[in-house]
Amino acid sequence: MRRKLVIGNWKMNGSLAANSVLLRGIVEGYAAKNADCAVCVPAPYLAQCQAELQGTPVAWGAQDVSAYAAGAYTGETAASMLQDFGCRYVICGHSERRAYHHESNELVAQKALAALNAGLTPIVCVGETLEQREAGRTNVVVCAQLQAVLDVLENPALEKIVLAYEPVWAIGTGKTATPAMAQEVHALLRKQVGERNPAAAATVPILYGGSMKPENAKDLLGQPDIDGGLIGGAALKAKDFLAIVDAGN
Ligand code: G3P
Repeated sequence: MRRKLVIGNWKMNGSLAANSVLLRGIVEGYAAKNADCAVCVPAPYLAQCQAELQGTPVAWGAQDVSAYAAGAYTGETAASMLQDFGCRYVICGHSERRAYHHESNELVAQKALAALNAGLTPIVCVGETLEQREAGRTNVVVCAQLQAVLDVLENPALEKIVLAYEPVWAIGTGKTATPAMAQEVHALLRKQVGERNPAAAATVPILYGGSMKPENAKDLLGQPDIDGGLIGGAALKAKDFLAIVDAGN
């Protein structure tokens, strides 16, 4: 039985003052016994998370990582640096980075590898655009995104990743994939992992992301292959985020 995992992706939102209120609200309200939770925050706020979340059940992480270990890569953040700030997770290949920063499937796979090499858990995001869905290409697109990661990771490493299915058309739009639509893709991804490593397929959490809210979380999280959520907008209010965590309990 996989434990539910609900992760807030704050994207480029926050301030020291607002974060403090939000983090305190999450820590004080977190009561789920069967669901883990974490927040992935903008890099400048990792020190704040380390100071405010250390010793609490709420983990934290970053939203991106360099594929390189160190060196002349201006503006990049190495996985070892995230480790210095106590991160457990790092999001790799979010569709916003794929779209606005032209991250390829191969680069995303290298980032996941760099994260694992530093002892972090990569949350590898896959997902199709509306155009791709309407063209009937969803399965081909998400499988190619996942395959690039399978090509790079050895079997033991594969058992340490988290996957997130985030249909691009559902992100920040209020349009959620129906539980059945999401389940179908999650099952497909799990099958693909299983063809390489059955143990990983049984344990790897596959999160859903895309307009998940307190009102739809229970139905989505009730699907057999949906192990949690990667939450954007609704993660910016402690009450909504906690309601989603509770839905996974
Ligand atoms: O990574 C989370 C995400 O992209 C979903 O965002 O605002 O639709 O919950 P949102």
